[in-house]
Amino acid sequence: MRKIKVELGKNSYNIIIGNKLKNELKQFIINANFSKKAMLVTDNNVEKIFCKDVLSVLKDAGLDVKLVVIPAGETSKSLSEAEKIYTAAIEFGLDRKSAIFALGGGVVGDLTGFIAATYLRGVPFVQIPTTLLAQVDSSVGGKVAVNHKLGKNLIGAFYQPKSVFIDLDFLKTLMSREIASGLGEIVKYGVISDAELFKYIEDNAYQILALESDIMEHVIARSCEIKADVVSRDEREGGLRRILNFGHTMAHAIEEASGYTRYTHGEAVAVGMIGAAYISKELGKIDNTSFEHLQNLIDKLGMVSRVDNCDVEHMFKSIFRDKKTINGKINWVLMDSIGKVSVVPDVPDKIVKSAFKFISK
Ligand SMILES: NC(=O)c1ccc[n+]([C@@H]2O[C@H](COP(=O)([O-])OP(=O)(O)OC[C@H]3O[C@@H](n4cnc5c(N)ncnc54)[C@H](O)[C@@H]3O)[C@@H](O)[C@H]2O)c1
Ligand SMILES: [Zn+2]
Repeated sequence: MRKIKVELGKNSYNIIIGNKLKNELKQFIINANFSKKAMLVTDNNVEKIFCKDVLSVLKDAGLDVKLVVIPAGETSKSLSEAEKIYTAAIEFGLDRKSAIFALGGGVVGDLTGFIAATYLRGVPFVQIPTTLLAQVDSSVGGKVAVNHKLGKNLIGAFYQPKSVFIDLDFLKTLMSREIASGLGEIVKYGVISDAELFKYIEDNAYQILALESDIMEHVIARSCEIKADVVSRDEREGGLRRILNFGHTMAHAIEEASGYTRYTHGEAVAVGMIGAAYISKELGKIDNTSFEHLQNLIDKLGMVSRVDNCDVEHMFKSIFRDKKTINGKINWVLMDSIGKVSVVPDVPDKIVKSAFKFISK
C-alpha cells in the first residue's frame, strides 16, 4: 500500500493506493467525523459491480447513506443531472458536514465533485476512482466540472477532495480500451517530468497490460506523485500546471472533431502527444530518435496514434476555441527531451496544420 500526500496547506489530503482498501476507507471515515447522513454517487455500470461492497463499508463506518445512480457516460456530466442530485441531497437532509462519495470514473468524479463544491457552498468530498484514467488523473488535483452543450467542462470549480482511495482491484473489470485510455495519461507523466518512469513503462509494458499489481501500484503511485507535486506548486493553473496539458491541445481538437464518442479521452491524448512530439521535432527541439522513442512506446502499449475521419481544418480551427486558449494565444506544451517539456506560446500555423495532417490516417 502507498500513501501520497497532496500538499495544499489546509486543503492537503492523502491518496491511498493498494489492494482491498476497505479497512483504510472505514478507518478514514470514522476519524473524519462526518455527519451521519452521507451520499454515494455512482453510475449504472459501476453500481452492478462494486456498489454493494462500498456501501457496506460506508454503513459499517456508521453512515446512513443515500445511493444515487446516474446513467453511465459523458452526457451525465450535465447541470440537469446535477440538479437531480441536489434534489436528492436536500430531500435526504445532507448537511454541511455530510460527505459525498464518488465511486466511478472521471464522469462520476467530476460531476460529484462539482456537486460537493456547490451544495451548501461546499461539503466534504471523497474520491473512489474506478477507471485507470480517474485513478491517475481526474481524481487528483481538484478540478471538478460539468459540461455545457456548447463545450466540455465549461462550468466548474477547483475543489479538493478530503481523500482519494485508489483500489487496484477495480481495474480488473475494465475493458482494454479503458485501460489504454489511462495509459495515455501515464505515458504523459513520463514525458513531462520523469524519464525513469518512461523507461519503467517501456521495460514493463507487458506486465502493465496484464495489470500486474506491483507494477500497476508503482506506475499509478508515480503518476499521482507527479500530478500532486505539480498541483501543490500551482493549484489554479497559473503556470506550471500547464505542463499537465501535454498532448491535450490536439487531443481536445480530436475529441471535438470526432463528436466525443469515437475516441476515449486517453486515446485522444496518445494521438495528441504524437502531434506535440511532431511539432517539437519540426521546431528542432527534439531529434527523430526521441520522437521514435515515444511512438514506439505508444505502439508497444497497443494504443492508437493516428485518427481517421477527423477533418484537419476543423481540428485546426477548434484549438482556438479551446478554453485554455487566451486572446487567441495557444500555450503549446512541447518536448525538450523524454522527461522534460516547456511551454511555447507561438507555433506557426503551417507547422500546426502539418501536425494535424500527420496524425490523420
Ligand atoms: N478533473 C480532471 O482533472 C479530469 C482529468 C481528466 C479527465 N477528466 C474527465 O474524466 C472523464 C472521463 O473519465 P473516464 O475515462 O474514467 O470515463 P467514465 O467515467 O465515462 O468511465 C468509462 C466507462 O467505464 C465504466 N467503468 C468505470 N469503472 C469501471 C470498472 N472498474 N469496471 C468496469 N467498467 C467501469 C463506466 O461506467 C463508463 O462506462 C471525462 O469527462 C473527462 O473530462 C477530468
Ligand atoms: Zn487528460
